[in-house]
Amino acid sequence: MKTVLSCIQPTGEMHFGNYFGAVQNWVKLQDTHRCFYGIVDYHAMTMPYKPDKLRQNVWDLAFNLLAVGVKPESLFIQSLVPEHAELGWIFNCFCSYGHLSRMTQFKDKSSQNTASDKDGFISAGLFDYPVLQAADILIYKADFVPVGKDQDQHLELSRAIAQRFNNTVGKDYFVLPETLHTESPKILSTADPSKKMSKSAGEKHYISVFGEEARIRKQIKSAVTDTGENSNTMSPGVENLFTLIKAAGDTEGYSALMNDYNQGSLKYVDLKENAANALVGLSTTFRENKAEITADKRGTKDRIKAASAEIRKVAQNTLREVKELTGLLNVKQV
Ligand code: TRP
Repeated sequence: MKTVLSCIQPTGEMHFGNYFGAVQNWVKLQDTHRCFYGIVDYHAMTMPYKPDKLRQNVWDLAFNLLAVGVKPESLFIQSLVPEHAELGWIFNCFCSYGHLSRMTQFKDKSSQNTASDKDGFISAGLFDYPVLQAADILIYKADFVPVGKDQDQHLELSRAIAQRFNNTVGKDYFVLPETLHTESPKILSTADPSKKMSKSAGEKHYISVFGEEARIRKQIKSAVTDTGENSNTMSPGVENLFTLIKAAGDTEGYSALMNDYNQGSLKYVDLKENAANALVGLSTTFRENKAEITADKRGTKDRIKAASAEIRKVAQNTLREVKELTGLLNVKQV
């Protein structure tokens, strides 16, 4: 079985954009690959943050991921596998300053933080973040990394680090990881289909995966369909509703409505009704799962910790070999 690794930053609620865009695919990949999915709290410290909130977000996200179908044995919390940070340091010495300086995500995020309403603090961690990301990936010798196109540059850096490492130690030790670009639907804000569905734009602009039925229905009902412009192509808002129906797995409803659209007889109320039903159907299952696992919070947390401890063994093994290969000393294991 090939190995898959991906990671997600712990930031609040999960919405359908996150779910259909990434997490749904993670769940599917578990049937065919050995999967490692990390909640990366060391990464979340690179921007100004609140310690209590960080821990809360980590647990919330862990529970949410389990509720939507990530298996506990695939899941780990990065700070419970501290070898990532140690390998990250070692990788700093295999990564050129020049290459790291070219990362566009750093440029974007550091300019966000110099915006007038922010405190202007840019951590060295933010600059170094892609090196830790390389450690996340290579420590499990991942073959494939399912991520969006925005991460291509980081993956390329990971391969450069692996390559330099291999050259230095004179051995093809690290696998060169590949990005897995699966066709995942891009979900737009229903309130403003010119934007992506996202939390940063405000409450109207995302639909929570664990949202109450009434709220989901209301959000879909008020979805923007036509922009008022007369055109022969499907408007982004209408297309987005079709995308949601298809992503939620209602292929029958999708085909029937598309047929109506092609005939010019599509009623937006029907489209919305169908989209709301599809999302509510998924959300109901997810909410039930979540209620079940939160009923035993302690037990669930213990299971998540135990899973991280199992995964940690893989990371420890890699790190031991890396220290051996790089001339560092290993602490004798007791
Ligand atoms: N950098 C990724 C993001 O911004 C998150 C991430 C951290 C990641 N480590 C990773 C993704 C390892 C894939 C593999 O979303």
